[in-house]
Amino acid sequence: MNIFEPILGNMVGGRVLDVATREGGFVQILTGNLKNYTEMVGIDISEHAIEVARSTFDQENIQFIRMDAEQLDFEDESFDTVSISASLHHLANIPQVLVEVKRVLKTGGHFIIAEMHRDGQTEAQLTTVYLHHWVAEVDSALGIIHNHTLARQEFADYMRKLGWCDIAFYDFSDMELDPMDEATISELEGLIDKNILRAAGVSSYTALKRRGEELYRRLREVGVQREPVLVVVAKK
Ligand SMILES: C[S@@+](CC[C@H](N)C(=O)[O-])C[C@H]1O[C@@H](n2cnc3c(N)ncnc32)[C@H](O)[C@@H]1O
Repeated sequence: MNIFEPILGNMVGGRVLDVATREGGFVQILTGNLKNYTEMVGIDISEHAIEVARSTFDQENIQFIRMDAEQLDFEDESFDTVSISASLHHLANIPQVLVEVKRVLKTGGHFIIAEMHRDGQTEAQLTTVYLHHWVAEVDSALGIIHNHTLARQEFADYMRKLGWCDIAFYDFSDMELDPMDEATISELEGLIDKNILRAAGVSSYTALKRRGEELYRRLREVGVQREPVLVVVAKK
């Protein structure tokens, strides 16, 4: 299911900025779904991610720049559209990034957020939430900023605080996946193994490993479905 086509299909992108783009996953979604755009810029704090993104895209009007989202090196009101996908919970200072987003966006321009959240409605969705939070804790123990996913209300509140116009919320819950799908469960068991190995040197290793093993059991007992996603579109 393409959740973005109905939201972005009639939107004129103009000059677009994708914040915390990593390897340009959301740039791909924007190029494929926006009605049109003239130029796209993806920024990320990780040099490695930016190098991978540059090697993946070869269009002249799409560029990737290493940059801190807390201090965007762009003029005020220089983009028609700004997006951030799956990244709010990876930021050290969400309010500061949102202030910067608003500064570089033209009056009347669109801001798009797509973010998973932790208000799972089913036990199987909660398995993904708990798994995601556990990976975030492994990352944090390794010194990588990765917070628990936000509650839906939290990022709705962030949006309301900065005085955006025409805020629209689109909720998505993909319930089509069979919670006991063997291929998905095996893949996630592999993810747990990988993260137990990553945590091997940290002081909280024993506790993290025990939680990983509990998640193993939960996958088989309760099953798993994707986290709910909230897409927010607002105008400056
Ligand atoms: C989950 S990934 C992004 C996924 C991507 N947006 C997508 O939809 O495919 C989170 C990204 O946030 C980036 N990040 C974290 N803090 C940042 C900051 N202050 N400025 C820019 N990027 C940041 C990380 O380097 C990481 O690449």
